[in-house]
Amino acid sequence: MTTSYPKVAQLKSVNQLRERLAELEVALPIDDEVLTAAAGSPLAEPISIGDFRVGNRWCIHPMEGWDANRDGSPTDHTLRRWRHFGLSGAKMIWGGEAAAVVPEGRANPNQTLATPNNRAGLAALLHAARSTHLEKFGQADDLWIGLQLTHSGRFCRPHDKRLEPRIAYHHPLLDAKFGIDADDELLVMSDDEVERLIDEFVRAARMAHELGFHFVDVKSCHGYLLHEFLSARTRMGKFGGDFTGRTRLLTTIIQRIHHEVPGLAVGVRLSVFDTVPYQTSREIGRPLPYADLLPYGWGFGVDSHDPLQIDLEEPIALIQKLHGLGVVAVNVSCGSPYYCPHVQRPAIFPPSDGYLPPEDPLVGVWRQIDAARQCKEAVPEMPMIGTGYTYLQDYLPHVAQAVIREGWIDSVGLGRMVLSYPDLPADTLARGELARKRVCRTFSDCTTAPRQGLISGCYPLDPYYKALPEAEIVKAFKRDE
Ligand SMILES: Cc1cc2nc3c(=O)[nH]c(=O)nc-3n(C[C@H](O)[C@H](O)[C@H](O)COP(=O)(O)O)c2cc1C
Ligand code: SF4
Repeated sequence: MTTSYPKVAQLKSVNQLRERLAELEVALPIDDEVLTAAAGSPLAEPISIGDFRVGNRWCIHPMEGWDANRDGSPTDHTLRRWRHFGLSGAKMIWGGEAAAVVPEGRANPNQTLATPNNRAGLAALLHAARSTHLEKFGQADDLWIGLQLTHSGRFCRPHDKRLEPRIAYHHPLLDAKFGIDADDELLVMSDDEVERLIDEFVRAARMAHELGFHFVDVKSCHGYLLHEFLSARTRMGKFGGDFTGRTRLLTTIIQRIHHEVPGLAVGVRLSVFDTVPYQTSREIGRPLPYADLLPYGWGFGVDSHDPLQIDLEEPIALIQKLHGLGVVAVNVSCGSPYYCPHVQRPAIFPPSDGYLPPEDPLVGVWRQIDAARQCKEAVPEMPMIGTGYTYLQDYLPHVAQAVIREGWIDSVGLGRMVLSYPDLPADTLARGELARKRVCRTFSDCTTAPRQGLISGCYPLDPYYKALPEAEIVKAFKRDE
């Protein structure tokens, strides 16, 4: 499955990229040359976050691999990924990967756990990133590492491929898309259960602090539980309804961590906008019909009268609130990989549960970068990390260094690119150029594989995954599709 948009690899110069963006009627700052650290790259500038001085402006986003042992402890695949995070040259590792605070909150049976029985496993992951970084770069006291804490909510799959959802409220479109009985009230987490879950987040945060993580990310993005609560307008009780009620779960976790784990910094990865869920198909992506649902009350950061459009009023108010609570940084993301992958991770080749891109993926890149710019402009005092740059491919460093210089964002995060080409930050800072053969071309195998119950990794470009038996299964699956 592919479409006829020009591929980024076919754009032969920065100017051709500029022209393509102009055709699409969007604009991004783009530098002509990639600067090394020695030549004054803005990406080499340190930044203070909380009381930590982070060594540069590259960040590694959380990237899970569906590859932990069943008890949540790391396998060799997991450890290899964290070693790569350390070797990347980025001085910020935002969360590493989503670690579930309770076993039933896992998004897959092989998700890393932030539970007491995996204490040693989390310590090994932290050590893997830090020690490789120290060995390669000679300095790790400017490497800021956090752990991403999660509950998967609507997308829990703790035992097998079957969904075992726990939801904040019944969502008319997502219930239908994922086969949830709209009358099953037992799936809705009760306030008592929410209170107990808050305890688990605090317990996991305490453990992360004891192990030496600098911060925890209270994950509030991508359709998972804490993100869903932000749009729980129809939920009764203290964790739903108005803005204060809907943000109460997130703010309570943060306040409790600050109170009970002093010294641990808290960050939040936030989906600052969303859209109407899209239909899975082999055709060009279309939103599920929503005309009967207007004004649309089921999204966070969407215009209720035209829910395909962004409305950042509430997300910006939330970021201001988080700043007031002492949150040290926000990692700006959007949407969800389960129901709007073209928004969350723009790609020319869709994942198996996706659809053909309904727009040139460059528009998706611009949308995320520009929304982050608006957030940064509105709350300049909050350090922010940007997402969605991988589809820029060969031109990622050109845009990354320009947005930092222009103050659109404070740090540029890498998602998929870190799977195919982990040391892109180190290469560009040292040599001012990248190894084109290793650039992620958004084949989406790293998303398709886990959708088929396989471990995630860059099967097309990383020789380690290319050599695994799973590579053949992914290939065969794509052939038969
Ligand atoms: C295989 C895979 C695993 C991911 N795992 C996580 C995760 O554990 N936590 C998270 O917040 N985002 C996760 N993401 C989303 C990425 O962090 C990132 O937001 C997304 O890939 C878009 O950035 P990019 O364009 O640089 O790839 C994952 C993405 C992929 C492709
Ligand atoms: S499988 Fe590799 S090339 Fe494809 S999207 Fe993932 S990281 Fe990129």
